[in-house]
Amino acid sequence: MKSLIKRYGHWALITGASSGIGFEFAKNLAKQGFNLVLVARRSELLNTQALEFKNLYGIDVRVVAIDLTEPNAVKALYDGVVDLDIGLIIPSAGVDEMGGFLMKDYVDLDRMIKLNVSVPTELVHVFGSKLSLRKKSGVILVSSLFGYQGIPLFSTYAATKAYILMLGEALNVELRKKGIDVLVLSPGLTDTPFAHGLEMNLSLLPMFVQKPKSVAMTGLKNLGRSATVVPGLLNKLYAWENRFLPRSWPVKLFGALIGNAVKSFSKNKERELTLGGSSNKSQVANNTGGK
Ligand SMILES: NC(=O)c1ccc[n+]([C@@H]2O[C@H](COP(=O)([O-])OP(=O)(O)OC[C@H]3O[C@@H](n4cnc5c(N)ncnc54)[C@H](OP(=O)(O)O)[C@@H]3O)[C@@H](O)[C@H]2O)c1
Repeated sequence: MKSLIKRYGHWALITGASSGIGFEFAKNLAKQGFNLVLVARRSELLNTQALEFKNLYGIDVRVVAIDLTEPNAVKALYDGVVDLDIGLIIPSAGVDEMGGFLMKDYVDLDRMIKLNVSVPTELVHVFGSKLSLRKKSGVILVSSLFGYQGIPLFSTYAATKAYILMLGEALNVELRKKGIDVLVLSPGLTDTPFAHGLEMNLSLLPMFVQKPKSVAMTGLKNLGRSATVVPGLLNKLYAWENRFLPRSWPVKLFGALIGNAVKSFSKNKERELTLGGSSNKSQVANNTGGK
């Protein structure tokens, strides 16, 4: 970890830096002395974080507040930082669209595919030539445990993450010759606004909710060491068993588990509405132990 700045320094770019895992990447790298490009839509939040990082760690920070799903956003981002010697990029921005496939509005699915698939691919492509001019550079792509098999009720989200897993595995080998280390980080459930927004009873899933700080740390520790990493022992087991079982088994298992968790959430919500109770969000917070 100590040598990260020697290998990839002094500038790192993180998308999705305003929250969750992306924020923890930024904080960890700031502590190590990296200068940062922070990317997300909420400019006020990013500017506050930038000021805090500058004051605490004496680093340089550039904020790029941009909706990455807008046309030409990645090109605009690149043009805004082309003067910097960026050696590490982490496209962490991502969203989910849970629910029955046919019930979803295609516009929302399409936006998610753009953010989760097209944007990271374009980022690595656009920045790749510049990264390859350095002696050493790094890319951490953020997939998901859900990318290891089809997941009913998360079908399109899981497919976007499977794409990232395949892309990263291939680029790890292909770009090694260019001095670019590529890692795919595939977290399981992680305690961020992303997980809190899921409309299902998370306590019914046989999974441990992880802290975003330790997920980001796992990513940084494994960059340059392996092609893929799944944080957490139980999550590793879920990803590993897929290699030995018939492909349909884990799909059916996750389908049943998620179906139950969604049903339980809806029942609780109905009960709360009948009693005139609290909001969905507080219910999900309760589901995750109030985190
Ligand atoms: N949390 C989990 O359980 C979990 C599990 C597996 C994988 N992951 C993956 O981990 C990554 C990070 O998720 P997280 O849990 O950290 O979620 P999060 O806390 O909700 O963070 C998502 C980040 O993406 C940014 N973002 C969303 N839409 C954007 C857009 N259109 N343009 C630019 N930025 C955008 C958000 O910032 P603004 O709102 O300011 O734009 C925010 O910084 C995602 O790729 C997710 O798929 C999460």
